[in-house]
Amino acid sequence: MPNLPRSILVVGSGGREHALVAALHRSPSAPKLFCAPGNPGIAELATCEAVAADDIPGLVALAQRLKIEFVVVGPEVPLALGLVDELAKVGIPAYGPKADGARLEASKIYTKEILQKYQIPTAPAAFFSDPAAAIDYIRSRPAPIVVKADGLAAGKGVVVAQTHAEAESAVHQLLALPAQSKIENPNSKILIEDCLTGEETSILVVVSGRDYVILPTSQDHKRIGDGDTGPNTGGMGTYSPAEVVTPALLARIEREIVRPSVDAIASEGIHFVGTLFIGIMLTPDGPSVLEYNTRFGDPETQVVLPRLETDFLELLWAASKGELSRIQLKIRPEHALCVVVAARGYPNSYPKGDLIGLPNILPTSVSIFHAGTARNPAGHLVTNGGRVLGVTALAPTLRHASVDAYAVCDAIQCTSKYFRRDIGARQLRRT
Ligand code: AMP
Ligand code: GLY
Repeated sequence: MPNLPRSILVVGSGGREHALVAALHRSPSAPKLFCAPGNPGIAELATCEAVAADDIPGLVALAQRLKIEFVVVGPEVPLALGLVDELAKVGIPAYGPKADGARLEASKIYTKEILQKYQIPTAPAAFFSDPAAAIDYIRSRPAPIVVKADGLAAGKGVVVAQTHAEAESAVHQLLALPAQSKIENPNSKILIEDCLTGEETSILVVVSGRDYVILPTSQDHKRIGDGDTGPNTGGMGTYSPAEVVTPALLARIEREIVRPSVDAIASEGIHFVGTLFIGIMLTPDGPSVLEYNTRFGDPETQVVLPRLETDFLELLWAASKGELSRIQLKIRPEHALCVVVAARGYPNSYPKGDLIGLPNILPTSVSIFHAGTARNPAGHLVTNGGRVLGVTALAPTLRHASVDAYAVCDAIQCTSKYFRRDIGARQLRRT
């Protein structure tokens, strides 16, 4: 075993970060784990420190004080704010791109320009800051049509408009989006792109310069309602593997999208270390890139990491050391399925502070990942966000995983709980 770091700081507080901490906790090297700011579920595996994920100086000072040897960054905002750049200045290695790489997620226009320049398949698009010009363009194209904010918008920056009128109102809505966190002026531009049809898949790639390792495939369910209805959310559930991505299709995705993307990023002079999460539409004409994210997906991570047999710490550490080529990924054959338990009302307004009762005994194949949870002054677990929990089951078949995950979702007590009933249904219908 290589020399692995003994003290690790994970940045973030969601279900993804709980899954990251759980995977690092499984490392045979038994590192000391810290998380900032973490959540009550993470606190069972790591020491949580009350520093916000967008407080860059605070996180750097914390890492120095705790003598952290490796930082793993969960969310996109600290990456875009340059956390990894600042850690590098004080000699602390991290997993996650520097601000130049994080721009691939923080600016959809920048990404579209790279995709076009390197001829990577993606929908045709045009960019605007003037609403009148955008509306003229919309009227010249067939509906449906997609309107996207350029900058980070926490999942609220994309409108798939069915009609011209809907697209026109999206132009005004997206140009008026509030700035996310401390990132300057993110949404003063929009993209308008042709609407693609097909199934989506999330391809997570661990990248280190020109080397990469493709993680198991997964599929998210973005809409709030059963049958893919209602508004988009951060993601309501996932499963892995996504069998719609056959080995032949994965080989094509690697040839036409993954390898060219990794090479394009390197050719642009970016030394990318971190996760390149490629959102792909499987169109009748072939796979096409919807977006890049520069971090692990949430809730994709909650199904991908439980399937890794490879030591996750060794994988991330090898990426940060430029030694990824020595990693042979081992994947468990089981299927994983994650149901997100949300607060009723999400993605719009929802209550906070509702008591949560978790089952006392869980099957060993089921994990409950905390996302929007907190402890009230009496120490009881309560809801504290839109996506509250993620219930992941691992089983020999997807159907078993679904039965096991939903049994636990039903057993969770919480008056405001809401979850989709059809996670994985599309694949279950096929098999
Ligand atoms: P993005 O953040 O760019 O991945 O967009 C969020 C979601 O909007 C995607 O997961 C798709 O469901 C949808 N979407 C984005 N772009 C397109 C497109 N060109 N055609 C159809 N749907 C899209
Ligand atoms: N589940 C989609 C995302 O993490 O962006």
